[in-house]
Amino acid sequence: MNETKYAVGVDIGTDTVKVVVGHVGGTSSAEETSAVVSEGKVTIIGVGTHKNAGMRKGTIVNLDKTAEAIDRALEKAERMSGYHIDAATVNINGSHIVGLSSRGVVAVGAGGQTIGQDELARVEEAATVVQLPANREILDVTPRSYKLDSQDGIRDPFGMTGVRLEVDAYMITALSPHMKNLEKVLEMTQLTPHHVIVSGLASARAVLDDQLRENGVVLIDIGATTTNVTVFEEGDIIHAAVLPIGSNNITNDLAIGLKTELDIAERVKVEHAVAAPELRRGSETAIAVKVGGGSTAKSIEFSTEVIDEIVEARLAEIFELVNHELKKIKRLAKLPGGAVLTGGGAKLRGIADYAREVLSMNAHVGKLPEFGGMGDKVNDPSFTTVAGLMFLDSEVSAGSANGRGEAGLLSGLMSKLGGMFSGKNKR
Ligand SMILES: Nc1ncnc2c1ncn2[C@@H]1O[C@H](COP(=O)(O)OP(=O)(O)O)[C@@H](O)[C@H]1O
Ligand SMILES: [Mg+2]
Repeated sequence: MNETKYAVGVDIGTDTVKVVVGHVGGTSSAEETSAVVSEGKVTIIGVGTHKNAGMRKGTIVNLDKTAEAIDRALEKAERMSGYHIDAATVNINGSHIVGLSSRGVVAVGAGGQTIGQDELARVEEAATVVQLPANREILDVTPRSYKLDSQDGIRDPFGMTGVRLEVDAYMITALSPHMKNLEKVLEMTQLTPHHVIVSGLASARAVLDDQLRENGVVLIDIGATTTNVTVFEEGDIIHAAVLPIGSNNITNDLAIGLKTELDIAERVKVEHAVAAPELRRGSETAIAVKVGGGSTAKSIEFSTEVIDEIVEARLAEIFELVNHELKKIKRLAKLPGGAVLTGGGAKLRGIADYAREVLSMNAHVGKLPEFGGMGDKVNDPSFTTVAGLMFLDSEVSAGSANGRGEAGLLSGLMSKLGGMFSGKNKR
C-alpha cells in the first residue's frame, strides 16, 4: 500500500541548507516501513548542502537567495542519489515561533459514545480555537492527555466510551509573514512540503528516545544564529522556544575581540576554541592559524586566554537564556533526563561538560542512529535537524497510508502546506 520508499528532509538553515535522502526499505506495508524507521535502519542515499545567504536569525530575508540555496542543495542530493526530489519535510525556524498550552472540550453524545477518529479530530480542533493575534498561525498541535468525563490523564482515549471529552494540547505558533515567505520560497523551488516542522522538534525526533522524553529532557539545538530549546516530560512536549542567538555570535565576538577577519575567527573557533579553559591540553598560552598558501602563507598567533574569555562570555549568555526558559516552566535544574545538545554549535569542544555545570543537570551531545549507505556523511551534530526531518518525512507518508492521517484538522495555510500535526495520533 505504501509506495514511499524514499524519505527526504530539507533543513533550511541560516548557515547552510542541508538535504538528506533516505531509503526506508522496500517494504510494501506502511507499518513495516515505520518499524524500520524507528529502529533507525535507514540507508542514506543522498546528501546535499549549500551555503545559504538568504536568511538572518533563522528567518528568510531574501527569497531568491534562499530558493537558490535550496535548489543547489537539492541538485547535489539528487546527483548523489539519482532520485528526483519533488517533495520533502522541511523546517521553520526563528524566534517568532512561540509555543503555548491549550485545552479543548467537546460533547461526544448524550448516551455515551465510543471515541473514534472523528471525536479525536473534533476535540483537537476545539483546542485550536484560541485567541491568537491576527498575524499569528498555528503550526503544530500535539494532544498530550485527555480527560473523559471524570477520568483524568488518559493517554489515548480511542475506543473508550464517554459523554464529555477534553484534551490538553501543546500548540506551536508562528508569525504569518514568515510562514508566507517560506511558502513563497518553496513555490520557487517546486518543492512540495509534506510537512513543515519547527527545527527543535525535528532534532528531537532524531536523537531523543522514549525513555528520555518520559524522564524529562531539554533539547538544545545550537545553530548559526538561533538556539532551539525544546522540553519534553512524560513523553510529551511541554515547552518550545527559539532564542535569537547562536554559534555565529561566538565567531563575531572572536573577530572583534581578536581584531581579525570573520573567516579566520571561524577557524579559531572550529579548530581551537573550548567551552571551558580547564579543557585545554597542557599549558598552551597561544594557538596559531595558518592563512594563505604558497609564498604568501603565514601563521597568525592568538592568545588562548583572550579566546577563552570571549567564548566563555557568549556561551554563558546562551546558557543563561536556556536556564531562563527552564525557569519559566519551573524546570530549572530539574530534568532527570538532562540536556541533549545538537546543531553545529554543539561541536564546540567540551560543550557537554560546560552545559552540565551551568545547567546543573546531566548533559551530552546528541548522537544520531546508525545509518547505512552514506551514513557517515550525516554523522555530525549539524545534521541532527535534517535527519529528524527525514525521519518525519517517512512517518508522514506512513501515517496517512495507515488511515488516521493528519489532513483536514486545520484549514488555511496549514492544509496548503500539507498536514502539520507532529506525529501523535498516527495509526
Ligand atoms: N567544530 C565546531 N565548533 C564550534 N562551532 C561549530 C563547529 N562547526 C560548526 N560550528 C558552528 O555551527 C553553526 C552552524 O550550525 P548549523 O546547525 O549547521 O546551523 P543552522 O542550522 O543555523 O544552519 C555555525 O555557527 C558554525 O560556526
Ligand atoms: Mg542546525
